Amino acid sequence: MLWLYEPVDFWHAHQPLQDEPWRKRVDLRNSQSPGAPTLDSDQGLAVIGDPVLVAGLPGDINPEPLVKALNETRVHKTAYEIACLARANELALLGHQAAQDAFVNGESEFGISLAYQQATRQREADAPYHSIIGLNEHAGTLHYQYYDTQPPGRPRSLLIDAGVRYRGYCSDITRTTAGPGESRFAALVHGLERLQLRLCDMVAPGVDYIDIHRKAHQGIAVLLSASGLVVGLDDEALVEQGITRAFFPHGIGHFLGVQVHDVAGKLTPPPDDAPFLRLTRTLEPGMVVTIEPGLYFIPSLLEPMLKGHRRQYLNTALLKELRGCGGIRIEDNVLVTETGMRNLTREKRQ
Ligand code: GLY
Ligand code: MN
Ligand code: MN
Repeated sequence: MLWLYEPVDFWHAHQPLQDEPWRKRVDLRNSQSPGAPTLDSDQGLAVIGDPVLVAGLPGDINPEPLVKALNETRVHKTAYEIACLARANELALLGHQAAQDAFVNGESEFGISLAYQQATRQREADAPYHSIIGLNEHAGTLHYQYYDTQPPGRPRSLLIDAGVRYRGYCSDITRTTAGPGESRFAALVHGLERLQLRLCDMVAPGVDYIDIHRKAHQGIAVLLSASGLVVGLDDEALVEQGITRAFFPHGIGHFLGVQVHDVAGKLTPPPDDAPFLRLTRTLEPGMVVTIEPGLYFIPSLLEPMLKGHRRQYLNTALLKELRGCGGIRIEDNVLVTETGMRNLTREKRQ
């Protein structure tokens, strides 16, 4: 039974509920009062919600065993949920294409965000998260949160991380595009995309997600050497000495569902070599994860290396040149199937 709190309010409208399949499964009622409805049974009342908002309500607030059990029900997606996530991907991809076109046409970050909203028919407030749209060095701020209204004099790169919410389910997709004449940066984007596809191919039941994260570091080590950004160290040493971490400081991804960073990803804490990893579980059919390697030129992470003994391995001229491109991230949404994976972001669609 779902009680909707809908007080009479001449300041705001009530959103009419769409006729969606979930409504066949719930008994929907309206309430003018914000309190708990009267219960038929005396088995107790649990209140689940933002602790600040629900403080003071009668009942057991966010009881841990119940919250854990509820969270676990969200880990394995049903066919309906998978269809919603696939549709959220399909819609977001329209936006990503429009954003890329806007970039090629010389639009500002703000102009690109408008193109994305227009193509997805979604206002930013309804999106799963504020789109991250960074041109040039802004692409190197992981969660860059502003939009310049003027385009840069020389557009060198676009990083856009943006999704769509469909029937409550989120997509979370990132694409990076090199500007005209940026052949070195374009080669890195291409290399990272090939790595990203290999990492997506690793997704299968029984695979430890932490292994995908570690494989990403090995792949980034190869890329750093092949591009000439780092010289004179073998790939293993590049990882061990924390050099790959300076270029790829975040985790390889997370669960995805009705929340972008969906719940229950960390039954065990992340290992020391992956402190920001949001998912540390072994993959099982029905889980939906993101795979999002990155390679960034972040001044605050590069400076300590440039000041210490690791400077000898860094191609400082090339680093200086590429800094203005900010960074690269490529992110897809991937379902674990019985036998392998289904990449919801790269499906052939009619
Ligand atoms: N858009 C946030 C993330 O990729 O985790
Ligand atoms: Mn993500
Ligand atoms: Mn993202």
